[in-house]
Amino acid sequence: MGNERVFAGIGGIVFLAVGIGIGVLIGWYSGPDRVNTSMENALSEEESEIQQRLLDLIDNTQIDENLRFLTSEPHVAGRPQQYVLAEWVRDKFTEYGFDSSEIVTYNVLLSYPSEVDGEESVVQHLVYNDTEDGYQVEYESQTSEPPLDETGKDKDVLPPFNAYSANGTVEGELVYANYARVEDFFALEDLGISVQDKIVIARYGKIYRGDKGKFAAQFGAKGLILFSDPADYTVLGEPVYPDGLYLPPTGSQRGSCLDGSGDPLTPGYPAVESAYRYPENGSTYLGLPTIPIHPIPSVNAKYFLSLMEGDEVIEEWRGGIEGLTYKYGPGFAAPSNESLVRMRISTSNQRTDAWNVIGTIRGSVEPDRYVILGNHRDAWAFGAIDPSSGTAAMMEVARAFGVLLKEGWRPRRTVMFGSWGAEEYGLIGSNEWVEEYSKNLDNRAVAYLNIDIAVSGTYTPDFGSTPNLYNTIRAATKLVPDPNPDEFENGAVTTVYDRWSLRDSGEDEPGIHDLGSGSDYAPFLQVVGVSAVDYTFVHDKATIPISPYPMYHSVYETYELVKNFYDPDFYYHQASSRLFAEMLRDLADSKIIPLNCAVYADRIGDFFTALKEGETGQKMVNDGDLSFDFMEDAVENLKVKADAFENYIANTLDKSDILAVREVNDRLMNFERSFIDPLGLPGRPTIRHVVFAPSSRDSYSSDKFAGIIDTMFDIDNNTDPEKWGKVEQQLAAVTYALASAAHSLELDMA
Ligand SMILES: *[C@@H]1O[C@H](CO)[C@@H](O)[C@H](O)[C@H]1NC(C)=O
Ligand SMILES: *[C@@H]1O[C@H](CO)[C@@H](O)[C@H](O)[C@H]1NC(C)=O
Ligand SMILES: *[C@@H]1O[C@H](CO)[C@@H](O)[C@H](O)[C@H]1NC(C)=O
Ligand SMILES: *[C@@H]1O[C@H](CO)[C@@H](O)[C@H](O)[C@H]1NC(C)=O
Ligand SMILES: *[C@@H]1O[C@H](CO)[C@@H](O)[C@H](O)[C@H]1NC(C)=O
Ligand SMILES: [Zn+2]
Repeated sequence: MGNERVFAGIGGIVFLAVGIGIGVLIGWYSGPDRVNTSMENALSEEESEIQQRLLDLIDNTQIDENLRFLTSEPHVAGRPQQYVLAEWVRDKFTEYGFDSSEIVTYNVLLSYPSEVDGEESVVQHLVYNDTEDGYQVEYESQTSEPPLDETGKDKDVLPPFNAYSANGTVEGELVYANYARVEDFFALEDLGISVQDKIVIARYGKIYRGDKGKFAAQFGAKGLILFSDPADYTVLGEPVYPDGLYLPPTGSQRGSCLDGSGDPLTPGYPAVESAYRYPENGSTYLGLPTIPIHPIPSVNAKYFLSLMEGDEVIEEWRGGIEGLTYKYGPGFAAPSNESLVRMRISTSNQRTDAWNVIGTIRGSVEPDRYVILGNHRDAWAFGAIDPSSGTAAMMEVARAFGVLLKEGWRPRRTVMFGSWGAEEYGLIGSNEWVEEYSKNLDNRAVAYLNIDIAVSGTYTPDFGSTPNLYNTIRAATKLVPDPNPDEFENGAVTTVYDRWSLRDSGEDEPGIHDLGSGSDYAPFLQVVGVSAVDYTFVHDKATIPISPYPMYHSVYETYELVKNFYDPDFYYHQASSRLFAEMLRDLADSKIIPLNCAVYADRIGDFFTALKEGETGQKMVNDGDLSFDFMEDAVENLKVKADAFENYIANTLDKSDILAVREVNDRLMNFERSFIDPLGLPGRPTIRHVVFAPSSRDSYSSDKFAGIIDTMFDIDNNTDPEKWGKVEQQLAAVTYALASAAHSLELDMA
């Protein structure tokens, strides 16, 4: 860090003001206080041709073919068909002319619904019978979903189960806990209903199911039954599968209940041969549920819930099962008041291989800079939406890049394609790979683009990303033709951007949500601090509040479902592919990396204001006697430095000076790394991003400044004498990260 070479300094700032003036005159400066980076990458004729050719190459029928193949058999993580698909992906990358393509294997802890004594997991109603001198099974939940289409017939489908559920049998009384969110358990406490030693029955939805399991155990329940309520997975009067796309009463959601992500036995380290593996039953918390958790369809839930004792629940807790009065419990009403519920769960954990496939196209100018596009390959059954819609689309991006390669083009930076294994269990394949290569990624990864579910609706695109990618995303949507412009008044919509902004409720630009967790971008963002994008084409969530889509993780998520009810011609899949192809090209081939740190700094300013002026911030000041002054200074300074940096790029940087360009690009790439706290968030050492983190109350959603939010949670009920000190420590940690981010951009710091 010498002072000889002054990057820009005062002179640069003066020049920059002049530059803006000229910019306005000649019309390339847009926006009041910011230069749009993508403007700085005005394409040459040749580059524009590549851009257009890439979009033209993306073929909808090819994606249709990919999806049909990928969904012909169930392809659960660690199972033989998942390896067959890994080989297929590897061979495709090779066929497309990639420089390398390989299967990367990790040995990790997965979980399967094993039978015990020939019997599958069930939830039973036990009735005491004097004459038989004991309990008899009166009723039990279904052990599989009856197939309703051609794909589902005679295939080796795993029965519905919750991965990592504890194994064993528990018996007891039921308590209904709505969505089993922490606030639902608090509400039960307030009603004087304890779940201690009870079996909780709760509906799926609103939050990550693993968090439901975590809270049920924390509040003392000995088992958790999850069900898919029609209120959350159907629309009244709309046909269910196979007549429509809504979940039939026999449908059930599979899914993991791991608390955390990555291989449970090797937290923080890759699951390679030399790794230390913690014992499953040792003293280190590995995020494995301690109680049995099991999913049932609504047809079974109706039976159990209809027997329940107790008051009728409040309106918000009522689901949509017809003819049922929802009650809290505990236990069953007379004449069933002497009977019990039994969960007999034989799900068991097994060490198994997870297979990633990594395909690489080496960059022509900067081969040591990586832009990564990833998608998981494993599904709970046929996975026609999750994740194979994404796999089918990603493979078409790969094919298109391959064609350009064969025509002699090569991106400036290296492009990598990751096909991840065992995502469904807890983002395991991607997490282990990120851990294994964390130092390389730290020094070389420009951005990570994630495509999990490509199409789960045909209403509007839905993006999540770090703010430095907002402009890049919007620029791509302005280039990609809309998949169905006829849906709109003549000519109102020609590009995906038009549709998106028309259907977005916000004012200015269409909104992009913040990243929490729930797919493979999370390890990139949380472990290394790689800027990331996630995306899905979704249904109208405002009028149909189903998350993510009705058939999610059921056996009915088949090729027929997609073909008949979602995207018969694969135009929405094609648009998805094109969006990723263009974002990948832009990030890998633009001279200046299209990551805008000024937009990021502005967004942080918004988060700061929301925190400070919100209830949490007020409480911190009033009850905790804490001050936001230092953080406010850091936020303001970050804005100043980020604006100056963007303006330097726009107006001062000599773009023919390859070292100067590289220096700027390195800073743009590394900006996100400043937000990584090596110690992690409180109690979550592998969640390390201080601005964006999965919420502790729902890991699918995003908390801003989660360290502060977490230490403030339930602070009135917290008896720890150091509780305010812990909040203050988090406030200081965020302030430090923001200051680091500003330092990383300082123009006079060479
Ligand atoms: C109890 O068991 C006997 C013998 O299996 C059977 O006939 C009877 O119906 C049972 N009673 C009830 C209430 O289920
Ligand atoms: C699961 O529990 C049953 C008894 O409840 C036992 O027989 C079986 O061995 C257990 N399976 C595993 C894998 O621990
Ligand atoms: C953990 O499991 C292993 C293998 O089943 C067993 O040998 C060991 O005694 C168990 N340890 C504890 C603390 O339960
Ligand atoms: C079950 O209900 C019946 C009828 O109300 C009552 O006689 C009996 O005592 C109850 N049993 C228990 C265990 O509460
Ligand atoms: C404290 O805990 C009770 C339940 O025990 C809950 O109702 C209340 O909302 C909590 N207070 C806060 C501020 O979270
Ligand atoms: Zn998925």
